Amino acid sequence: MGSGKNNWNAFGCHVSEDLLLTTAERVVGLGLRDLGYQYVVLDDCWQDVNGRDQNGRLQPEPSKFPRGLNFLSDYLHSLGLKYGMYSSAGEMTCARFEGSLDHEAEDAQSFASWGIDLLKYDSCYHMGRIGTPQISFNRFKAMSDALVDTGRPILLNLCNWGEDYVHTWGMSIANSWRVTGDIYDSFTRPDDLCGCDTSISDPFCIAPGTHCSVLFILNKVAAFADRSIPGGWSDLDMLEVGQGGMTDEEYKAHFALWAAMKSPLFLGNDLRDMTASAFSIINNPAILALNQDPHGRSITRVRREVDGVAKDEWGIGETHVWSGYLQNGDEVVILLNAGAADMEMKATLAEIFVSFGPGGSAPHVKSDWSVHDLWAHRMPHKTAAAIVDAISDDERAAIYKNANWYNSTETPYAEGLRNGDPRLFGEKIGVIEAGGTLKAEVKSHAARVFRLRRIQKPGELFKEKRHDRMAKDEL
Ligand code: GAL
Repeated sequence: MGSGKNNWNAFGCHVSEDLLLTTAERVVGLGLRDLGYQYVVLDDCWQDVNGRDQNGRLQPEPSKFPRGLNFLSDYLHSLGLKYGMYSSAGEMTCARFEGSLDHEAEDAQSFASWGIDLLKYDSCYHMGRIGTPQISFNRFKAMSDALVDTGRPILLNLCNWGEDYVHTWGMSIANSWRVTGDIYDSFTRPDDLCGCDTSISDPFCIAPGTHCSVLFILNKVAAFADRSIPGGWSDLDMLEVGQGGMTDEEYKAHFALWAAMKSPLFLGNDLRDMTASAFSIINNPAILALNQDPHGRSITRVRREVDGVAKDEWGIGETHVWSGYLQNGDEVVILLNAGAADMEMKATLAEIFVSFGPGGSAPHVKSDWSVHDLWAHRMPHKTAAAIVDAISDDERAAIYKNANWYNSTETPYAEGLRNGDPRLFGEKIGVIEAGGTLKAEVKSHAARVFRLRRIQKPGELFKEKRHDRMAKDEL
């Protein structure tokens, strides 16, 4: 799935040609395109307030997009970016503009004629066509088929907030599917507006809602994180990094977990007014390489603890251990402390590699592993501030280059990983011996993110038992 920038979290309905153009220039100027943020997505509220034209076609609001949408897409494409738009599988969109339900063929034609590369497809005002997986599937499939019929390659990003078990069918017709109601800018705060509890089969769940915290989303997706496959990904919703409601550590944890879960990474903050600390989170190539790892499978949760963990003011406090296989045989491990006090966290190799064999039977447990901290080489604050505050794009580009930062346009992540590019591997901070335990200090509301690398013993032949349906060579 692509990554990029979406205006919704920071701007809601305040969209305009000017916002999109300046955002796109900023994506390029800040070097974000060359880290992989390629899509600029125009969310809801772009449509004409007067509805369809006399031929029944969708049209943009002329006061917001005076030069039309082709002008926008041509400009984005000329910058080497991709262009995304939004509609709803409903009579209206969530902000009550014209929706695409029962207009799929003509709307897909319009989208293709505007040169889009991605469609975010929402689920508001669905006219009651919801309630079973089959009904929802058919409603969304109509747009999926219509997009294919245009002949233009367009990614389809479903946004039905996890309803009707979308994690069981989304991959059949779309490139990603949202798993919860809308994210908001808090790490753990519970909110009744986030409607469903963490059980995926909650019979009392009426609507997934909005105001879902980072922790809520993690708990919801944990049960089916492994549904993500290359070409079809769980979408944990847009990023809140840089929006101001969380601490630096919370944003680092949010970003790393989204990346390692292979969620599409859509920046939700205002790029024209970004802090240096937000910038040095979203530009960490060692974390982005997790998201772009060619193996293309999500981390899964191997342990969650609630009892005995210090609680915050809302009574929330828990820890998680997440791990996952990477293409080159490395293992990513994330220790999340969503408790109210700093603590030492531990995970045994047997736990970390449980998906390769239960009870410590995985052959991996018999190896020694070096531990690499993937935040160790975060861009220094001074450099990040100099880039964000630079007067011109040229000045920015020069600072970037001198900082020897990663450029995935020049060297795709798969190539960098294959070649062992040190910028993607963090800093080695220790070794876990065979049968041993990973231990780390984890601050309150923070995560430590490690890449474990197997230490080859002389003359040793390591036989790995595949735990996945999909062997890496088949990807
Ligand atoms: C919601 C969706 C948001 C945003 C909004 C626009 O349903 O989850 O991400 O697109 O609609 O109205």
